[in-house]
Amino acid sequence: MKICIIGAGYVGLVTGACFAEIGHEVLCVDNNAAKIALLRKGKIPIYEPGLEELVKKNQDCGSLRFSESVEEGVGFAKVIFIAVSTPSKADGSADLSAVENVARLVAQTMTEYKLIVDKSTVPVKTGEKVADTIGRCCKKGVPFDVASNPEFLREGSAIQDTMFPDRIIFGVSSKKAEEILREIYAPIYTPTQIPILVTNIKSAEIIKHASNSFLAMKISFANALSRICDLSGADIQEVVLGMGLDKRIGTQFLNAGIGYGGSCFPKDVSAFIHISKTLGYDFDLLRCVEKVNADQGTHFYKKIEETFWVLKGKKIAIWGLAFKPNTDDMRHAPIVEIIRRLKEEGSIIVAYDPQAMPNAKVLIPDIQYAEDPYTMLSGCDGLIVATEWEIFVKADLDQMKAKLAQPIVVDGRNIFDPWTMKEKGFVYVSVGRPKMHSGERYIYE
Ligand code: UDX
Ligand code: UDX
Repeated sequence: MKICIIGAGYVGLVTGACFAEIGHEVLCVDNNAAKIALLRKGKIPIYEPGLEELVKKNQDCGSLRFSESVEEGVGFAKVIFIAVSTPSKADGSADLSAVENVARLVAQTMTEYKLIVDKSTVPVKTGEKVADTIGRCCKKGVPFDVASNPEFLREGSAIQDTMFPDRIIFGVSSKKAEEILREIYAPIYTPTQIPILVTNIKSAEIIKHASNSFLAMKISFANALSRICDLSGADIQEVVLGMGLDKRIGTQFLNAGIGYGGSCFPKDVSAFIHISKTLGYDFDLLRCVEKVNADQGTHFYKKIEETFWVLKGKKIAIWGLAFKPNTDDMRHAPIVEIIRRLKEEGSIIVAYDPQAMPNAKVLIPDIQYAEDPYTMLSGCDGLIVATEWEIFVKADLDQMKAKLAQPIVVDGRNIFDPWTMKEKGFVYVSVGRPKMHSGERYIYE
């Protein structure tokens, strides 16, 4: 099937490449000319494992193309996916101007039936507004359907999550729209029997906001528990292990740390709060999720202050800048605020991240950036871990100790074992885990 995807960002580009991979003919449209020019040369403007190869393979065989023209996309395809950005406005609501703009452009170009599918994360009732806009702007009598097909991909595993999702959601208002979506996704769900939920558009829109908000709530719950563990001497990882043995709870998304970031959780939680309020419900539970997340960053900064004592003039190494591992994305990365405060205190910062430094240099130009994670440690008064990249998890502790001027490690992602760090002679502080005292063990040999 011929498919047009408008918005070639983290979501649109991955979705387009995967649709091409499963046998469709895809045209990805984006209004960022530089991005399209890069993509046409087979270059990928973002870091996503496996994406460069997937795009190149499908571009070479002609099943994946790029354009700046919505008109070209509408003329080419029967199905148009909207995957443009829906960033937060100052009041926390979703900025839907790009979605409306695209809906209008599509409508003005349509001359025959089209299915317009919202892939972007949008507040409930957006589908209704997209349909109204198209109905108002398209030529009289041109038939169309609107549908919601939210994405559940995580950065760093986006291709895997697209090709092997836990579920596929079709929010539709006609049998025809359902059948078209089934045809598009058949190569994904037929061999794997992945569950498909066919529902109405409003429910599909809420499923997305609710899923992300629930995951963010799990993280904030774990972070709140970590505060109680810090105060009581309990160990958050043992607590989560014990909780997670209850199948109804599970252990996923209960890793305490410096808080959640990224382009989705912060934006989607605030958008869900806002749309709920607009509808007449005060979602104060989600406001608490946001507050716990913000407090977690503040609490982690306090740990840094307490551990380093004087920050002014101290040279501090930072491992990890991206909001999570396996991505270059710095959107709402918790470390950004922490670096801002450290700089304000007069600390000298040297940072390393395997992928995010090009983005970080735009966002935080006035700190030092290192070429490798060990040389940078020389002369540093301590190390802060902010992202759990595998190279940090498997770090050579002896080399770290030898390089650091002071053997101090403040770990925001609990990647090291407190007992081992103590045995190696580090002053080691982490999140929700007790500082080790001599002879004390968590569990008996
Ligand atoms: C975005 C939203 O953030 C997410 O909530 C939604 O589910 C999917 O789209 P992402 O792909 O990460 O996710 O956004 P981004 O990387 O900003 O990509 C959006 C793309 O849309 C950009 O390449 C931008 O240039 C493009 N765009 C934006 C258009 O092509 N036209 C517009 O009018 C606006
Ligand atoms: C999220 C959702 O997982 C995905 O389904 C949705 O489509 C988009 O938003 P993403 O934001 O890419 O995906 O990454 P995710 O792995 O969910 O992590 C989000 C943030 O939560 C990161 O900052 C991560 O460090 C943090 N996190 C995650 C925790 O702090 N603890 C956890 O246990 C899990």
